[in-house]
Amino acid sequence: MLPPSAIVTGAASGLGRALCLRLARDGWRLAVCDLDEQGSAETLRLVEEVGGSGRIERLDVANRGEWEALRERLKADWPHVDLLVNNAGVGGAGDVGLFSLEDWHWLLNIDLWGAIYGCHTFLDWLKASPRGGYIINVASMAGYAAPPGMAAYNVAKAGVVALSETMYGELRPQGVGVSVVCPTFFRTNIIDGSRMSGDEHRQVAEKLMGMSRMTADDVAHWAIQAMHRKQLHVIVSWRGRLIWRLKRLAPRMFTKFAASEYKKMMDHARENPEPVKGRDVLGS
Ligand SMILES: NC(=O)c1ccc[n+]([C@@H]2O[C@H](COP(=O)([O-])OP(=O)(O)OC[C@H]3O[C@@H](n4cnc5c(N)ncnc54)[C@H](O)[C@@H]3O)[C@@H](O)[C@H]2O)c1
Repeated sequence: MLPPSAIVTGAASGLGRALCLRLARDGWRLAVCDLDEQGSAETLRLVEEVGGSGRIERLDVANRGEWEALRERLKADWPHVDLLVNNAGVGGAGDVGLFSLEDWHWLLNIDLWGAIYGCHTFLDWLKASPRGGYIINVASMAGYAAPPGMAAYNVAKAGVVALSETMYGELRPQGVGVSVVCPTFFRTNIIDGSRMSGDEHRQVAEKLMGMSRMTADDVAHWAIQAMHRKQLHVIVSWRGRLIWRLKRLAPRMFTKFAASEYKKMMDHARENPEPVKGRDVLGS
């Protein structure tokens, strides 16, 4: 039997690269998809180093036509596709009214429409997989917690959660599985490409990411384990599990607490401005 085939978006960096490496070690053949072709080439090099195989596909997930072209290119070479990972994403922070509408569109087009296009374009083909197709959508704990100061990101990720839960119900009888990964902060390059309506937001985001002990490889491990267990929600850290439970048990209290923490963090950032660190936060 031919090796299982997976499409991974946002594969040039962070979680996408970590997922490719874990899948490669397990014998998957990969379509390494990203806008960043140099980063994709490095991912493919690492994939081959661990004995895996794959191909680089330039893809802007926000572009419907590029998704369709990708399907046609893969159909010409691959007899089946078994896994779609909608991982590509960008960050954004800024209060409603301050975060520009242009940035709302940019973020929703990538983080939400990217996942919708991916599912829409590949679902028929995934249904025909001899192994039973699978979809992993990467959302965020922000999709549940809705922390203040990042509405566009929260809306996009809540949409990805809703998309995934809906599809789980629709596809269960048809043998196609769905998982939605909802991590809290883990260390990647995501802040570099994010759009923020003020330096305080960047400072707070860098601080929270800097405090995280979780790596992209940890998240990839939980995501793939969830696929094997056909588990819908992937909540990957003790902090995530705490937020998940508190939000359900006491939603009003949770929201008030989040509001007061947000005010404290933003006041502190305004009173103690730090030079924007960019990549330094990752030690790279
Ligand atoms: N890092 C975190 O703290 C964190 C927390 C929760 C959720 N997430 C989610 O994890 C996913 C992966 O992010 P990451 O942290 O690895 O970030 P990252 O910046 O390291 O990787 C994201 C990748 O997506 C690619 N990308 C961006 N826009 C694209 C587009 N239009 N088309 C194709 N590719 C595009 C980038 O080139 C990059 O390679 C995202 O969906 C993100 O929202 C990250």
